[in-house]
Amino acid sequence: MARWRTLTGLLATVLAAVTAGSLTLSAPSAAADVIPTPNVVGGTRAAQGEFPFMVRLSMGCGGALYSSRLVLTAAHCVGATGTNTSITATLGVVDLQSSSRITVRSNYVYRAPGYNGSGRDWALIRLATPVTGLSTLKIANTTAYDNGTFTVAGWGAAREGGSQQRYLLKATVPFVSDSTCNSYYGGEIIPAQEICAGYASGGVDTCQGDSGGPMFRRDASNAWVQVGIVSWGNGCARPNYPGVYTQVSYFASTIASAAASLGG
Ligand code: ARG
Repeated sequence: MARWRTLTGLLATVLAAVTAGSLTLSAPSAAADVIPTPNVVGGTRAAQGEFPFMVRLSMGCGGALYSSRLVLTAAHCVGATGTNTSITATLGVVDLQSSSRITVRSNYVYRAPGYNGSGRDWALIRLATPVTGLSTLKIANTTAYDNGTFTVAGWGAAREGGSQQRYLLKATVPFVSDSTCNSYYGGEIIPAQEICAGYASGGVDTCQGDSGGPMFRRDASNAWVQVGIVSWGNGCARPNYPGVYTQVSYFASTIASAAASLGG
């Protein structure tokens, strides 16, 4: 969660949030006490270059650059496995309208084998040409990072029912255990395949259009590592309804094999 160090910083952030809309509302914080418009508090703009692996997909989803030619996204964002030249990926910018954006077409989609709308919510999109100059996001291949505080980012709705965003927004959300998450969701969570994150009080979350984007944190070497893929939730940022993410560590070896089969 954002820490408000100075009034100037706070005002700048709120201004940015007002201008751009915000990815999320903030969890209760000092800002909520200071600013009398709680609906635009929180959710901050990502800086250009802060998350160079972030990808916007033309069907209205997010993704993460897995390799120079592969984007990891959600299965529910794509169609069946096979040749697919219909997706445009936009990369390298926080501002989707920026003239310095990179756009590349897809040439193949690989959707998680056995995907049927419940669980296994991951897919790889192969780009027609490799992108250069952008760093990739490595995926967690152990459960060691399936805890703590995570960063989420995307161009999706800034609030439930809201519009898609022009500028990349980011937020941080804490891990929620499978048992707690399942108590909120009445047993709908698939513990091995899904990982939840959010505040019991709500207010910070991913939302429609963030799907497929990464949830990530720092590893022991301070490098970003992807632990989740935005998958689903009950509305957005509602109390006692955390965001539900594909648990990347569980699928890591399958994803790596699929990536190799697609040419890496
Ligand atoms: N399924 C949504 C999408 O297609 C993502 C929903 C995430 N919801 C949440 N409350 N975290 O964009």
